Amino acid sequence: MEIIEAMNSRKSIRAYKPDPVSREVLKEIMELALRAPSWGNTQPWQFAIVTGQELEQIRQAFVDRAEGLGNTDIPLPQGFPEPYSTRYRALGRKVFELKGINREDKEKRKWWLLQGLRLFEAPCAIYIYIDRSFHIQGDGLNVWPLFDCGLVAENIMLLAARHGLGTIAQIQAVMYPAVLRQVLGIPDSKLIVLGIAVGYPDWDDPVNQLHSEREPLDSVSTWHGF
Ligand SMILES: Cc1cc2nc3c(=O)[nH]c(=O)nc-3n(C[C@H](O)[C@H](O)[C@H](O)COP(=O)(O)O)c2cc1C
Repeated sequence: MEIIEAMNSRKSIRAYKPDPVSREVLKEIMELALRAPSWGNTQPWQFAIVTGQELEQIRQAFVDRAEGLGNTDIPLPQGFPEPYSTRYRALGRKVFELKGINREDKEKRKWWLLQGLRLFEAPCAIYIYIDRSFHIQGDGLNVWPLFDCGLVAENIMLLAARHGLGTIAQIQAVMYPAVLRQVLGIPDSKLIVLGIAVGYPDWDDPVNQLHSEREPLDSVSTWHGF
């Protein structure tokens, strides 16, 4: 698959078939994904690639904690100023529309939240983490390891698309890092950045029809010297 095809076909998948993803396919994806660039070739990323019993344990523990507040290692945004709030709300509206969830239906909204914490039932997850000491430095933050993780994450998702796999980058997947530390043996010296759910898409689920919008290029760019 050409890169353009992979970029066009990648989108966030929020419903999966239970079919397992083979270790060989994941290994192929991960080995190539490591070609991502990083600051000074520091390659700050580490991965836990999880399926089966361990992933079930994580799902269950996340659901058990769902009433409480999440506690991500990398803080969540404290607010969404415009225009970000409008874009964020539009996404939520579309997802609810496709799932037939009414805004007032608390039960269904809660069920959907739990689906997110369960990685939308994906059979596999890739957790990306970094060294705490490389990110938190003195009174400040070195944000570049996070930036580099974003680059490798996109590689993973594009390469997965090439194998007919669906993915979604998920902050919900790292909402309770203490659970991940315990199940996956990740020490406190690491910060868990992001989870990527991976699996074969359930194309019969209407939520996977979602095609998220983008601002036109003209509204986010200026051109100079042409
Ligand atoms: C860092 C990051 C975290 C995300 N976390 C979530 C999440 O917790 N739940 C979710 O449903 N989607 C999550 N997404 C997916 C975005 O909503 C999605 O990428 C965006 O709406 C664009 O849609 P697309 O991926 O289909 O192009 C996340 C994406 C990124 C990059």
